[in-house]
Amino acid sequence: TPLAQIRNFSIIAHIDHGKSTLADRLIQTTGALSDREMTNQVLDNMELERERGITIKAQTVRLSYRAKDGLTYVLNLMDTPGHVDFAYEVSRSLAACEGSLLVVDASQGVEAQTLANVYQAIDANHEIVPVLNKIDLPAADVPKVKQQIEDVIGLDTSDAVEISAKTGLNIEGVLEALVTRLPPPTGDADAPLKALLVDSWYDPYLGVIILVRVKDGRLRRGQKIRMMAQGSVHTVEQVGVFAPKLTPVDDLGPGEMGYITAAIKTVADCNVGDTLTEDRHPASEPLPGFKPSVPVVWCGLYPVDADDFEKLRDSLGKLRLNDASFHYEAETSAALGFGFRCGFLGLLHLEIIQERLSREFDLDLIATAPSVVYRLHKTNGEMMELHNPADMPDGSVIDRIEEPWIKATILVPDDYLGSVLTLCSERRGQQVDLTYVGNRAMAVYRLPLNEVVFDFYDRLKSVSRGYASFDYTMDGYADGDLVRISILVNHEPVDALSFIAHRAAADNRGRAICAKLKDLIPRQLFKIAIQAAIGGRVIARETIGALSKDVTAKCYGGDISRKRKLLEKQKEGKKRMRQFGRVEIPQSAFLAALKMD
Ligand code: GTP
Repeated sequence: TPLAQIRNFSIIAHIDHGKSTLADRLIQTTGALSDREMTNQVLDNMELERERGITIKAQTVRLSYRAKDGLTYVLNLMDTPGHVDFAYEVSRSLAACEGSLLVVDASQGVEAQTLANVYQAIDANHEIVPVLNKIDLPAADVPKVKQQIEDVIGLDTSDAVEISAKTGLNIEGVLEALVTRLPPPTGDADAPLKALLVDSWYDPYLGVIILVRVKDGRLRRGQKIRMMAQGSVHTVEQVGVFAPKLTPVDDLGPGEMGYITAAIKTVADCNVGDTLTEDRHPASEPLPGFKPSVPVVWCGLYPVDADDFEKLRDSLGKLRLNDASFHYEAETSAALGFGFRCGFLGLLHLEIIQERLSREFDLDLIATAPSVVYRLHKTNGEMMELHNPADMPDGSVIDRIEEPWIKATILVPDDYLGSVLTLCSERRGQQVDLTYVGNRAMAVYRLPLNEVVFDFYDRLKSVSRGYASFDYTMDGYADGDLVRISILVNHEPVDALSFIAHRAAADNRGRAICAKLKDLIPRQLFKIAIQAAIGGRVIARETIGALSKDVTAKCYGGDISRKRKLLEKQKEGKKRMRQFGRVEIPQSAFLAALKMD
């Protein structure tokens, strides 16, 4: 295909504004799939994604469109995830395209993720075509939303495309806009090969599949390619395009998007953003790459049943095959036994992995409270990154602690602004900006990430009745007055329950968790003290009174089989207990205590 007849684009939108529905319509209208093959939302191909309606992994599809000018165009659509945790995947998808469709729900207007995504597209030098979706809804207000897009984003909306992805209205208008308004890619077929490694995933039959965007040169089967940053050399086994099924082709030229396989075992060997070149005629310079994604939220994952440890290790390995942004390492906890410390891009990522483990791998798990990565500066000048509060060294060797901050953008109807501002300041937020987008307020805040991973998102939704939208980017580290709070049961520290908090919040949080544990730990034959402490100083205490009855007493001593049954049942229950010094703590108590509210 000549370059002039190729368009590479992505669709950016706030969650639920109809990106997947539009993508499906484009696939259907261009006839890439028969109606029978057209399942609901082709691009979201993971079961979980479909269920939650969230696009996680960027997918791509090649469409063939005969335009009004009589020419047939190749339209490569890159799907992008819509959630804050995956902003990084958005940026790499955008780097592979020349333009974007900006989809805005005409009944909702511009939202926080609309802005975040569109700024990324502008950064990527994209030509942007505004598309107003859901105009079939009675609540759609096209002129108002157009005005918002002009005011807030500064895009000209005079030839915005008005559609209903659901009914199929004016999908043709979108296709024509792609052809006439987006620039074709540029590139030199005779120059040494340069292809961007956009993404990779593991396929049980083909091994690792690499999604590439060719900039210069040609990518062919049998070619020896080198990953410029990684340095490894591979022989290309298959070259193909997504039509949307994997379809082998002879080669891919400049401007084209497609996939290759090259007998690569794991996605960890394929660094997203790397440049592929020909081993024998390498390019002199790689393409500009990406910053590697780093996990910002960590938690411990432990099997409820200790016998599941190997299965958990196995399952984490399988997940990692497909998700290089997910990290894990083995750790042990006195309270929870053997498990793993796992790193995630954000809370949603954590939730998704946890859910996949329980659903796809049938694992019952305990997750410890999520923690951010702190930087401890020791008195001897060393810096250590702390992923697990239980690993915090003694206070005397710590000079200062830095914590990560974020810059959050919150859009909220005026009525709820007051509660949102209160919430932000309770969470140590610093206001950066407060403006209006139509009749909604846009508050920009700097917030410590540790106040956000806690339950910020849930609280925000609840104080705004679900109307606030939220997006954030990481915004550096700053010193914080932070302390580690240990929880002691019968004077033994329970490592899995320790956490780090701002000094001002420590007393309240310590008291809350002690009170909770008091209700969760069953009485035993002796009195149990539950304490929260900072270093050696106790900040909260609860006491569980002693129990003096013999459990079998109520069986009147006589009925021996009944007595035995009761003892058996107790033994079963013990498996679900953790021994803490002399105290047995039921597994369920950890689960409940770790669930913050
Ligand atoms: P994520 O993949 O989660 O980011 O969402 P999305 O932006 O892909 O949204 P999706 O396509 O899943 O659409 C969200 C909801 O809006 C679905 O229930 C769609 O059926 C509905 N929807 C999409 N387009 C239209 C439209 O034009 N009109 C109406 N009435 N509903 C639409």
